[in-house]
Amino acid sequence: MVTAEHNEETADPTNIVIFGAAGDLTKRKLMPALIRMLEYGLLHNESRIIGVVNNRTEQVWFDLIREGLSKFSPQLGMDDDRWARFSSMLKMVPGDLADDDTYARLADALETLEGRKNAMFYCAIPPEWYGRVANGLEHVGLVEEEQGYRRLVIEKPFGMNLQSARELNNELQSVFHERQIYRIDHYLGKESVQNLLVYRFANSIMEPLWNRNYIDHIQISVSETLGIEYRAKYYEHSGALRDMIQSHLMQVMTLVAMEPPVEFTADAVRDEKMKVLRAVRRFDPELVKQQTIAAQYASGSINGENAPAYVAEEGVSPDSVTETFAAVRFYIDNWRWQGVPFVLWSGKRLEKRASEVVIRFRKPPFNLFDSHASIPAPNALIFRLQPDGRVVLRLNAKKTGLTTDNEEMVMRAPYADDATAVADAYEVLMHDVLTGDGTLFSRSDEVEESWEIVEPILEAWKDRVSIERYRAGTWNIPAMDGLASDCACGWHKPI
Ligand code: BG6
Repeated sequence: MVTAEHNEETADPTNIVIFGAAGDLTKRKLMPALIRMLEYGLLHNESRIIGVVNNRTEQVWFDLIREGLSKFSPQLGMDDDRWARFSSMLKMVPGDLADDDTYARLADALETLEGRKNAMFYCAIPPEWYGRVANGLEHVGLVEEEQGYRRLVIEKPFGMNLQSARELNNELQSVFHERQIYRIDHYLGKESVQNLLVYRFANSIMEPLWNRNYIDHIQISVSETLGIEYRAKYYEHSGALRDMIQSHLMQVMTLVAMEPPVEFTADAVRDEKMKVLRAVRRFDPELVKQQTIAAQYASGSINGENAPAYVAEEGVSPDSVTETFAAVRFYIDNWRWQGVPFVLWSGKRLEKRASEVVIRFRKPPFNLFDSHASIPAPNALIFRLQPDGRVVLRLNAKKTGLTTDNEEMVMRAPYADDATAVADAYEVLMHDVLTGDGTLFSRSDEVEESWEIVEPILEAWKDRVSIERYRAGTWNIPAMDGLASDCACGWHKPI
C-alpha cells in the first residue's frame, strides 16, 4: 500500500474519467486503488471520479461499486461513513461509447465539476474501443491541454500483432501526443519488479557480475495455478505468448538486461529498454522450432480440487489449440549478453504460483577440493517477485566435519515482509499518471518492437493443428527440459 512516507507527492485536483466504469477492472482494481490513494493523500480530495456507464442509473452504478468493494476488497472495510466520503467524489455520466452525445455530456460534466482543467481518461474497456474514445474526446475538445493536463490511460493488449499495434498507435497518436498516452503494463507497477532496478543500480557488487562473463543464463517466469477464469473470449485469440510473454515478461527482461540509464527519467529508462529490444535476435521458422514451446493444460487437479481441461472451459472451442503455456529462448546480441540464453516462460494451471527472475552463474571451472567429485552447483541469484517477494542467493559451503565436500547453502532475504506495506500496482501506476511520470509505462516504439520480435513466432504457430498437453497442476512439460538442456541446472521450477 502506498503510504504518505512512501511518496509524499499529492497530485493536483483532477477529474478521473473511467470508461468501462461498471466493469470488472474498475470494481476489482481501480476503485480500491483510488480509495487507498485518497486515504494516503495521493489523490487530492477535490478530485472527481466520473464513471461513463451505459444502461444503468447512477444509484445502480453506486450499488455495483459498493458491492464490488465488499466482495473483492473486504480489507478496505468500507463502512457507511467511509463509503459516504468516497461516494461523494463519484459522478456518473450515462451513455454509449458509440454515441457522440456521450462525449458531449462528459464535456458538460467536466465543465460543471471542475472547469476544464486536469483530466485522466482511463480506458477500462476492450481495446477495439480505444480509438473511438480518443476520437470522441477530441471531437468535444477534451484533448487539448489549454489549462490543465489531459492524459489517456490504456490497458493491454496493445494490438494482437505488429500491424494492429501500429494501427492503434497511429490512431491514438493522431489525437493525443505520445507524452499524453500511458500504456499500462501492470507488471511494471509491482514493487518487486521496480525493486529489480534498485538491486541492480543501488548495489555496486552487481554490476561487475552482470554480464556474459559470469552469467550462464537467465530465466524469467510467471507460473499460475489459476486457469483462464471467465476470459475465454479474449484468451482464445490471445494465448500465453501474447498474454504474458510479449508484454509482461519481455518488459521484465528489458529491465534485467538494460544498460544503466543516465538518469531515472521516463525517456532515459525507456531508451535503454528499447536498445535491449533492438538487440534481441530475430526468429526464423527454424529458430521458432528450436527455441519455443507451446502447450495446453489437460484436466488434472490443483490443490486437491479437480481442474477441467482448457478445452472444457466455458467459451472455449473443444478443438482449440490455443497455448496456455509458452516458453521462448531469446538471445540478446550485444556486448553484455552475447551467447547468454534468456528463457522466458509462463503458463496457467501449473503446479505452483510464483513469478521469478533467476540469474544462474557459470559453473566453477573445476572442483579444487576433490578432483573425483562433481563440480559444485553453479550459483544462483533468484528474485522472487510474487507471491512472497524475496531474494535468494544459492552458494556452496563446506559440509561440516572432517571433509572438504560441499553442499548448497541458501541465503534468503525477504523483501517487504509486511504485505500491507506493498503498494498495489494500480496505486503506483495511477499515481504516476497523475504526477505525469511515464517511466513505468511502455512507449509506442517498445510495444511495436516487442511485437516485431514475436511476430515470426505467431506466424509459425498460427496454422498448428495440434498442441502438446500437460496435466493441470503439474510441471509435466518434457519439452522444457530440451529447451533448457544446455542451461546450467536446466529448467528452473519454482519451489
Ligand atoms: C494479466 C494476464 O495481464 O496478468 C492474465 O492477462 C494473468 O492472464 C495476469 O493471469 C497475471 O498477473 P499477476 O499480477 O496475477 O501475476
